Amino acid sequence: MAGAETAGWTPPDIDLSRPNAARMYDFFLGGAHNFDADRRAALAVLEVAPQVRDAAWANRRFLRRAVQYALDQGIRQFLDLGSGIPTRGNVHDIVQVAHPDGRVLYVDADPVVVKHAQVLLNDVGGAEVIEADLRDPAGILGHDLTRRLIDFREPVTVLLVSVLHFVSGAVDELAAVLDELMRPAAPGSLLVISHASPTTTTDATETVTELYARTPTPLHLRSAHDIRALFGNLDLITPDPQLAQPAGLVPVDAWRPDPTEQQQLPASANSPFLAGFLAGVGRNPRPAAADTAATAGSAANTPGTPLRPRNDARFPDRQRARTGAPVAARR
Ligand SMILES: C[S@@+](CC[C@H](N)C(=O)[O-])C[C@H]1O[C@@H](n2cnc3c(N)ncnc32)[C@H](O)[C@@H]1O
Repeated sequence: MAGAETAGWTPPDIDLSRPNAARMYDFFLGGAHNFDADRRAALAVLEVAPQVRDAAWANRRFLRRAVQYALDQGIRQFLDLGSGIPTRGNVHDIVQVAHPDGRVLYVDADPVVVKHAQVLLNDVGGAEVIEADLRDPAGILGHDLTRRLIDFREPVTVLLVSVLHFVSGAVDELAAVLDELMRPAAPGSLLVISHASPTTTTDATETVTELYARTPTPLHLRSAHDIRALFGNLDLITPDPQLAQPAGLVPVDAWRPDPTEQQQLPASANSPFLAGFLAGVGRNPRPAAADTAATAGSAANTPGTPLRPRNDARFPDRQRARTGAPVAARR
């Protein structure tokens, strides 16, 4: 069935008979980059949990608001980990419409996602994609395209939007990975996370978990406490200054909501899936002294702190960053 659907954007060695979380998400968002197996699995999810489609859209809108928040803070460079199949409202679209000089590096572990993003970005300056597992920070930070595109002496926004619940690993190990990514980043850099949590244990949650267990990326739901721990000692930004809420995690639709969007969505209070889909943004407060000294004089990103060896035993299922020739020299 896949033959006619694959032209141009699917690597030849991909098993299209197995559903895939990236392509299921694309289906939830109304995209066309999914196959029979993905659609069947996605429809099975929607049958028991129709709110998942709303949650996907709410997440996508959170992504847009978080990127806009970063732009408003003067940040012009973005590292989007687990970027997914390109769809409407990609990060570089949001960034470059306002700031044509903005830079975005997309990272995804799925070769189909990467192939499609390469096609999409072929004529786009200031945006690149690499294939890597986000649990390989050394491979990502040391990659040629990262070094060319992202200058860690300037603030950067690291996006981990709806990806970490597909990533195995203990909380302290993942927090250490995120720390390795944020440590070389200039003060003012932002870490953006949205992550599903098991707020309600319903039959639907169990069925959805079982369905995702058939994909290469089973679900790893984490508690609000554990998701907060992923930010390490970053300061969390107040999610809704209008309400004078304490800084912390909130459902994705409640993070700095845009009143014009709210009407299109069910309130998270009415949807257990949305209520458990938590978001937060942390700010890097560290003084730059050590890193600045280590990177002074370098025109490119040269993280100043030691990174773990790439054959990291913490994540046996990890895929390493492909460090071959750059995808393309497009500018
Ligand atoms: C649901 S999509 C999210 C897309 C986008 N961030 C968004 O929120 O709209 C999750 C993406 O994470 C990717 N992913 C899963 N595990 C990953 C890992 N360990 N490293 C990098 N990407 C990963 C999947 O391939 C998929 O494209």
